[in-house]
Amino acid sequence: MKILFVCLGNICRSPLAEAIFKYKISELGLEDVWESDSCGTSDYHIDDQPDPRTIKNALKNGVEINHLGRQIKPDDLDHFDLILAMDSANYKGILELTDELVHKHKVQLMRSYDPQGDGDVPDPYYGGERDFQEVFDILNRSMDSLIESLRKK
Ligand code: 4NP
Repeated sequence: MKILFVCLGNICRSPLAEAIFKYKISELGLEDVWESDSCGTSDYHIDDQPDPRTIKNALKNGVEINHLGRQIKPDDLDHFDLILAMDSANYKGILELTDELVHKHKVQLMRSYDPQGDGDVPDPYYGGERDFQEVFDILNRSMDSLIESLRKK
């Protein structure tokens, strides 16, 4: 199973989602079973390190991030089995790359796995520390239910 996390810039939400996912599956000893990666719909941050505020907040919560920004490409829609968009604009951006009928079943909103709510993972880029922590909390609990659902398959 191959999972791709997608946001706009690939420096805040999706690299954090990937890092939390990798952290949790390695705790479960499942890191060889599921492949994961992240990318952005934009070309704003190709080869950039994650946002320093994301790195700092993740470390505060015990998670290390190792990723360089990259932009989604049409091949990703064939390669990955599940593509999780952080917000509805990213969701639309992903489907614009493809024939919707072929790939739509693979694309879902990240917060469809959030037991406490749905909608968008809010973009923290213009926010403060509290916004970065909110993103961490949303992704942390959504990842638990994503992993539970993948384990049942
Ligand atoms: P992300 O956040 O999509 O969660 O990585 C953003 C990062 C950069 C920009 C916007 C959102 N930007 O406009 O550069």
